[in-house]
Amino acid sequence: MSHSQSPRAASHEAWMSAQLLRVEQALSDWVAPNSPLNSSASGDLAPVLSQAMRYAVLDGGKRLRPLLVLAAVEAVAATDEKSTQAALRAACAVELIHAYSLVHDDMPCMDNDILRRGKPTVHVKFGEAQALLAGDALQALAFELLTPSPDVVDTAVQATLCRILALSAGCHGMAGGQAIDLASVGKLLTIDELRTMHRLKTGALLQASVMMGAACGKATSAVNLALREYGAAIGLAFQVVDDVLDVTIDTATLGKTAGKDAEQDKPTFVSLLGLDASKAYADKLLQQALAALEQTGLNNTQGLESLAYMVVNRVT
Ligand code: IPE
Ligand code: IPE
Ligand code: MG
Ligand code: MG
Ligand code: MG
Repeated sequence: MSHSQSPRAASHEAWMSAQLLRVEQALSDWVAPNSPLNSSASGDLAPVLSQAMRYAVLDGGKRLRPLLVLAAVEAVAATDEKSTQAALRAACAVELIHAYSLVHDDMPCMDNDILRRGKPTVHVKFGEAQALLAGDALQALAFELLTPSPDVVDTAVQATLCRILALSAGCHGMAGGQAIDLASVGKLLTIDELRTMHRLKTGALLQASVMMGAACGKATSAVNLALREYGAAIGLAFQVVDDVLDVTIDTATLGKTAGKDAEQDKPTFVSLLGLDASKAYADKLLQQALAALEQTGLNNTQGLESLAYMVVNRVT
């Protein structure tokens, strides 16, 4: 992880900041106690749940998954009003699933963490029952966001986005990977087993972010295939780097407790390969991701390129 940034990163910084603003605003609007989405009586009857949901989602997080959605839609050059609206909804929906996965991941029955995004975890702040429900409700809200009136997003696109997100979050994606993670405590996994666990628990949602962005446009199957490979490479790289950061970066910088993996005897790339080989593997995956981007033959891939470098070079 010592190589340079994307050559085009600087020119893309303005784009990135503008997208982050859009995403923060949309999340704040949509995960709101008084949002039209929550305007039924239940919004008032469950104020603590609404607060816990907002606490889990807002004010923190790199928003990498939303940025991937928005960079992918840009890459496939879908700029009409409906595609733009679909992409913003997809960007927020995947972040809601991610936020829910973090809330549950931190609970005492899973990783038992007290710090997340530099704040006390949701169950520490609101109690375990509210944390469980906040995760549940965020997952439901994600799919609500993806299914507005057909005037806003075409129903065929809605169905595709729901399917991609559901597959990546469920038994054969994030939740399945988390189950393997819990079952693997104290075990020595083979590299293939570890790769599978990481692809599912983390890679699937990152890859889905890319594919949801692509689905908002009319990408050819060759482009989709190359983007899928890009998503697989950065998705796996992301968790390899997460394993590295757990042993190389301090708690204050990470905003979550450092050294947890060794403390909980979790198999990680670092425990299996060591630090240097893990970093080298992340670099190899970055090269694979960049090669896959080339394969797309698309012109507007600067965002996806910058994000691939960010995944591997990040320090939080
Ligand atoms: C952390 O994800 C959890 C993993 C999947 C490893 P991020 O590092 O993207 O967390 P935030 O969203 O920036 O807090
Ligand atoms: C979690 O992996 C992946 C999720 C699906 C949330 P980790 O347990 O390594 O994530 P952190 O290190 O707590 O963020
Ligand atoms: Mg975990
Ligand atoms: Mg964890
Ligand atoms: Mg981790």
